[in-house]
Amino acid sequence: MTDLIYRPRRLRASDGIRAMVRETVLTRENLVFPLFVVPGKNIKNEIKALPGNYHLSPDMAVEGAKEAYDLGIPAILVFGMPEYKDDQGTSAWDLSSPVQQAVRLIKAALPEFVVITDVCLCQYTDHGHCGLLRNNKIDNDMSLPPLAQVALSHAKAGADMVAPSDMMDGRVRAIRHMLDENDYTDIAIMSYSVKYASGYYGPFREAVNSAPQFGDRRTYQMDPANAREALQEASLDLEEGADIIIVKPALAYLDIIRQVKDEFTVPVAAYNVSGEYAMVKAAALQGLIDEERVVMETLLGIKRAGADIIITYHALEAARWLKR
Ligand code: PBG
Ligand code: ZN
Repeated sequence: MTDLIYRPRRLRASDGIRAMVRETVLTRENLVFPLFVVPGKNIKNEIKALPGNYHLSPDMAVEGAKEAYDLGIPAILVFGMPEYKDDQGTSAWDLSSPVQQAVRLIKAALPEFVVITDVCLCQYTDHGHCGLLRNNKIDNDMSLPPLAQVALSHAKAGADMVAPSDMMDGRVRAIRHMLDENDYTDIAIMSYSVKYASGYYGPFREAVNSAPQFGDRRTYQMDPANAREALQEASLDLEEGADIIIVKPALAYLDIIRQVKDEFTVPVAAYNVSGEYAMVKAAALQGLIDEERVVMETLLGIKRAGADIIITYHALEAARWLKR
C-alpha cells in the first residue's frame, strides 16, 4: 500500500458515481437538424455525399421535420436548391421557391417547431459565390440588399430565425434593418459569424451543387490560421444585432468555440459540418469505429468546448441514442 492521498479513480468507480460528477451533459435540446429542400412533389432521395440525409420536396420536408420534432429535436436548419439560377441569385428570395414553400408548410403543421433558414446566395447564383459579382470580384456592398431580401422572404414564409452564411461584412445589420422595417422585430438572427474557408464543406457543396464556378471563397470566409479575427467577427456581428453566434466548422476549431464562449454572453452554436460527418460515416461503414460511441463522444466534445447549440447531420441518430 502506497501513501497516495489523491486517487481520482475513486470517482470513476461506478455508473452512479460517474453520473454524479459528470460535468457535461448532451441533450436532444442541444441539437439542430439540417434539412435539404428541392423543387417538386413527393421527392425523398438520399444524398450520396451525405448518407442518411435526403433531398426533400416541400411536402416531404414536412415529414422530415416531423421526424426531428418527434425525436425531441427543437429546431431544423433549412437549405434549399432552386428551380433556376442566374447571376443575381433571384430565386433565393422567390416566395414560391422550395425553401419558402417548405417553411410555410412546416410551420403550418408544427407551429411549435423552431424553423431556422440558411440565408445565402451560393446555391442560387450561376457563378456559385455567396455574394454578387462586379468585375469578376465578389462585391461586398452590392450583395447586402439581396441577402436582406432573402431573409425577409424567409420571415414572410414564417421562419423563426434566419442564419446568414455568406460572410459579407455588414450583412447582419442589413438583415436586421430589413426585418425591423417590415415589422419582423421578433425574428432572431443566428449569424455564421465565424466561418472558416474550409475543406470540410466538400460533401455539402456536392449535395446542393453550390461549388464556386471559378476561384474559391477565401476572400470572404476566414483564414483557418486566425483566432483573434474570430473574436473580431463575432463582436462586429453582435454590434450589428446578431442573437446567436455560429462557429463553423466545429472539430478543427474547438479552441475558437471556447474563446467565443468565454468572450461573449450570447449563445454559441457550433456547426458540425458535412466533411466531419462524412469521415465518421465512412469509417463506420467500413467497420473501423463504433459509430454510436464516436458520434456521442464528438458531440459531447463540441458541447464541452462551449457550444450551447450543435448543428449536425447526426442529429436524428443522436436523438435516438439519447432517448434510450
Ligand atoms: C453556404 C454554406 C456552406 C455550408 C453551409 N452554408 C458551405 C460553403 O460555404 O460552401 C456548409 C455546410 C456543411 O459543410 O455542412 N453558404
Ligand atoms: Zn454561400
